[in-house]
Amino acid sequence: MPKISRRGQNIFSSPIRKFLPLVLEAEKRGIKVFKINVGDPDIAPPASFFPAIRSYQKKILPYAPSPGIKEHTAAWVKYYRGFGLKLKPADIIPTMGGAEAILLAITAVADPGDEFLIFEPFYASYKGFATMSGVKLTPVTLKVENNFALPPIKEIKSKINRRTRGIIIINPNNPTGMLWAKKDLAVLVKIAREHNIFIISDETYREIIFQGKPVSILQLPRAKDCAIVVDSASKRFSCPGARIGCVASYNKEAMRSILKFAMTRLSVPTLEQIGLVPALSNAGPYTKKIAAEYKKRRDVVLNALKKMPGVVCREPQGAFYIIAKLPVKNAEDFVKFMLTGFNYNKNTVMVTPAEDFYITKGLGRDEVRIAFVLNIKELKEAMEILAKGLAAYHRKSDSYKF
Ligand SMILES: Cc1ncc(COP(=O)(O)O)c(C=O)c1O
Repeated sequence: MPKISRRGQNIFSSPIRKFLPLVLEAEKRGIKVFKINVGDPDIAPPASFFPAIRSYQKKILPYAPSPGIKEHTAAWVKYYRGFGLKLKPADIIPTMGGAEAILLAITAVADPGDEFLIFEPFYASYKGFATMSGVKLTPVTLKVENNFALPPIKEIKSKINRRTRGIIIINPNNPTGMLWAKKDLAVLVKIAREHNIFIISDETYREIIFQGKPVSILQLPRAKDCAIVVDSASKRFSCPGARIGCVASYNKEAMRSILKFAMTRLSVPTLEQIGLVPALSNAGPYTKKIAAEYKKRRDVVLNALKKMPGVVCREPQGAFYIIAKLPVKNAEDFVKFMLTGFNYNKNTVMVTPAEDFYITKGLGRDEVRIAFVLNIKELKEAMEILAKGLAAYHRKSDSYKF
């Protein structure tokens, strides 16, 4: 049999999907699994979304232009105006979700063998994109005990070498829920400029914040040449199935190259681009509403975690995730236990073990990520079950630290 590629063999498998068979088996046994593992919003998209798609009148469904349908790209321009950004249509290219935006940004600025600094823990799909594009991710570790704060400049700089092409940031962050302020971004921009490298800023969750105003790296004048924003409609408009995102940058050379990559894959879905025009043109009312909802959910999760003995976590400032350090040796084993060896009145909970959000071996082994993607009532129930599960795990297992 012919052999597949090394990258095909090494491609990372999502920590989120890995436990799916155990979930299905639990459900077959009649157990309800509260799924707070995946960032799949349970909220309806803006009311304008489906009617805008239904308004499509043509009898044919042609390719959209590679740089996006004019009205759609214009709607992104308008959307960014809301944050004081004067991007032109040529500075924006719609993509198949933030996922493709990540891949296009990486491939436009880095060659195989090049490197990016990335703060761990981070959205694990970056590992897959690094494998696909042949680049190396160099981790800079953030710690829950330090509130996932930016490490000293010296430490960040010490990881930069002649192959480093950029720094990847996710703000607000999946999985930590942390938000970097403009002063943190200014530090990173200064480093990037000193070393003549890019910053890829993933702002998928920009408006899902629980304090202050939404921030984009593009608001920093000194970031103009070096910043590439990875963006997405999936979370802020609760429509991950639409598969719409974009890349935005004032760097003309990067955008020219990204456009050529975009031409190679032809285009982004036509109907979904049309569907998102009204939402992008008037994003504020919807995004404010969902941010308020996620804040309430954050409080439910945080208050419940604070009451669980031995659990360490920090208050997320944005996105809809929290990292919780559990009093267990191996969070993966705990997650398996919750799906296979535990139920409370035929209910259990699925959370994501956090180890795969790190590169450094051994980190995150006792941590899990929780996503606030259930309504308040269900979330309360899920957290109660999680607390009971932890206590049961404690009783059964000597891997518990207490
Ligand atoms: C930080 C971050 N970036 C990008 C994505 C990709 O999202 P999508 O491709 O649905 O836009 C996600 C999805 O969870 C994410 O959390």
